[in-house]
Amino acid sequence: MTESAPNQVTDFMLKRRSVLIKNMREPGPNADELATILTIATRVPDHRKLEPWRLMVLQGEARQQFGEALAAVKANKEDMEDIQISIEKDCFLRAPLVIAVVASPVEHRTPEVEQILSAGAVCQNINIAAASLGYASQWVTGWSCLDPEAQKAMGLADHEFIAGYLYIGSTDEQPADRQRPDLAAVVSHWEAP
Ligand SMILES: Cc1cc2nc3c(=O)[nH]c(=O)nc-3n(C[C@H](O)[C@H](O)[C@H](O)COP(=O)(O)O)c2cc1C
Repeated sequence: MTESAPNQVTDFMLKRRSVLIKNMREPGPNADELATILTIATRVPDHRKLEPWRLMVLQGEARQQFGEALAAVKANKEDMEDIQISIEKDCFLRAPLVIAVVASPVEHRTPEVEQILSAGAVCQNINIAAASLGYASQWVTGWSCLDPEAQKAMGLADHEFIAGYLYIGSTDEQPADRQRPDLAAVVSHWEAP
């Protein structure tokens, strides 16, 4: 095999896909696996090494407490049926592990958008790391990610927000692939006008 020939990593990347949270179950990663996921998560391009992100691990009871805190914020803002409050409270119990990726841009000559892109890379590295260990994962967002009161309830600073919640668990479901972009429609070989 030459160096440029497809290999196991190429094959893995060509097939990797997200699994819907509703198809996740116990068990989640063990402590060693979690450490691996977090290490890979933070091994991302980061212009000028600012580390403009941080990760909050939600496991065990913390998932319930996190959900309850956010449900209280939401119930304060709008009328909610009991069932809606209960769904909100239990939201993070849907998978054994959730990693909240906090975008935490700093004042710097590196543009904020570059720092936020680095937080996005953290999210996708979690997807890749989880799949490489045989776990299902999905990157989701939601109302709480950009809501100032929710951010406060989670303990975020004013300038911080949630780039993504990465749900991780086991699954019995190997999802069929979804439609992928037509490369001809999204790729061009630039030529001088
Ligand atoms: C920033 C961001 C937020 C997303 N939020 C949601 C979401 O809230 N709910 C959802 O079903 N999918 C959401 N997705 C899409 C899924 O994470 C994922 O892209 C999709 O299931 C297919 O992923 P795959 O290419 O890894 O298979 C989001 C994706 C991104 C990049």
